[in-house]
Amino acid sequence: MDTVLPALDAAYWSARYATGRDAWDTGRATPPLQAYFDQLDPTRQPRILIPGAGRAYEAEALHRRGFDQVFVADLSAAPLVALARRVPGFPAAHLLEANFFDLPADPPYDLIVEQTFFCALAPTLRPAYARHCAHLLRPGGTLAGLLFEADFGVSPEPPFGGTREEYRAYFAPYFDFQHFDTAHNSLPARQGRELFICLKKIG
Ligand SMILES: C[S@@+](CC[C@H](N)C(=O)[O-])C[C@H]1O[C@@H](n2cnc3c(N)ncnc32)[C@H](O)[C@@H]1O
Repeated sequence: MDTVLPALDAAYWSARYATGRDAWDTGRATPPLQAYFDQLDPTRQPRILIPGAGRAYEAEALHRRGFDQVFVADLSAAPLVALARRVPGFPAAHLLEANFFDLPADPPYDLIVEQTFFCALAPTLRPAYARHCAHLLRPGGTLAGLLFEADFGVSPEPPFGGTREEYRAYFAPYFDFQHFDTAHNSLPARQGRELFICLKKIG
């Protein structure tokens, strides 16, 4: 029998935040992303998007490093409010309470940061995720972050796992693969179960 997914809409995600069903929340930028951010140069002020950002510790880390053009998008208002409270200097105009798939590409982004958003989407949306990331980025722009390389079993709720072969097929039409391998500095609970990806938009 097919698994029937609940509607993974704003109400679903807001209810998870309201009831504390947010085990994905690590309370800080994860080590692989922090290490990646540490070698980025804020001088050119790249335009950065973090979709499905949740409480957005990655945005906080980038903001504190001097990146001024960081935008976070989430269907649910609650985690965006949490970011605004935690980091009062984060620009209110950069908090986008919006569906990722509705975000416009004008102006395009230089970098999209992925952290437990891809795994939160219904798997049928994965091709559209790759396509929309490419749409939002300038030619040569970067999609960087982490994808679970794990089997979470059949579940009606996120997170949804997968394999690197499956993921490669989604991104290959739009991106050159600079890095696509098991992260070496994951949090202990995620050790050996996540890919660090750094993909450059073709064109
Ligand atoms: C598993 S949580 C991860 C949150 C955050 N990235 C983290 O690691 O703490 C997934 C997040 O994606 C958001 N979300 C789900 N579908 C979305 C969509 N289509 N557009 C924007 N945000 C979405 C949810 O509200 C939720 O905050």
